[in-house]
Amino acid sequence: MPSQPLHSAPKHGSTSPQVIVHADSQAASACVAREISDLIRERARQGQMAVLGLATGSTPLQLYHELIRLHRQEGLSFSNVITFNLDEYCGLFAEHPQSYRHFMQENLFRHIAIPAEQTFVPDGTLAADALPAYCERWETHIASTGGIDLQVLGIGRTGHIGFNEPGSAIDSTTRMIQLDPLTRLDARAHFPDEQSVPLYAVTMGIKTILQARKIRLLAWGEAKAHIVAKALTEAISPALPASFLRQHRNTAFHLDKAAAAYIPEALCQP
Ligand code: PGA
Repeated sequence: MPSQPLHSAPKHGSTSPQVIVHADSQAASACVAREISDLIRERARQGQMAVLGLATGSTPLQLYHELIRLHRQEGLSFSNVITFNLDEYCGLFAEHPQSYRHFMQENLFRHIAIPAEQTFVPDGTLAADALPAYCERWETHIASTGGIDLQVLGIGRTGHIGFNEPGSAIDSTTRMIQLDPLTRLDARAHFPDEQSVPLYAVTMGIKTILQARKIRLLAWGEAKAHIVAKALTEAISPALPASFLRQHRNTAFHLDKAAAAYIPEALCQP
């Protein structure tokens, strides 16, 4: 994989992220999984921890399957890995089938022998008045590990990264946020009825995400094509939170062909 970002057609005075269009989502996921395993192994050789920022949703599932395969078939150890998840629904306990802690346990953590005390998912069950101090400690905790080496992201149809919905500022940190109606609609299928879809979530902020040394955004399918193109080409603004990724030095968008359908060719990796 090329190591330098593309510099063709930078917009709005920003650095364009690398845009890599893969044959399909499986190939894209395998590519990012390989980058993650290389990072983990390199850190292990140095006797150091690798710090990963992780995402939930349907998008990273193949990435997690591939990491599990690398663990089982190629001996990839996660004993030197610390993970921080981007977000969690407010009001859902860890054991709730739709909580993001539960998602991570089922889809990754319980398959890779990672020590439980090295995995962190925000707590969605705290009272509102306890949240500000908790969120501050979350930021300090990430910093105390040396910071996130590689952050995995999906993108929502609102342009959110994590649950940073439109209106999220570039200097936002971990906090409680009200979910956009479109985000709740997209989550509806996972809950018994509309009323059960949480109204709020705890999310890492835009600033938290941009502090990661590397960011790898994944997006598949035509439902994401418009928002991916907007994130790469429209004005950088809180109205389009994913557009802030263009101000990060080491971001790559890994896309399948359908998700890349509306991106100007000049922005794509050949
Ligand atoms: P999805 O969600 O992976 O389920 O499409 C992505 C997101 O909302 O960030």
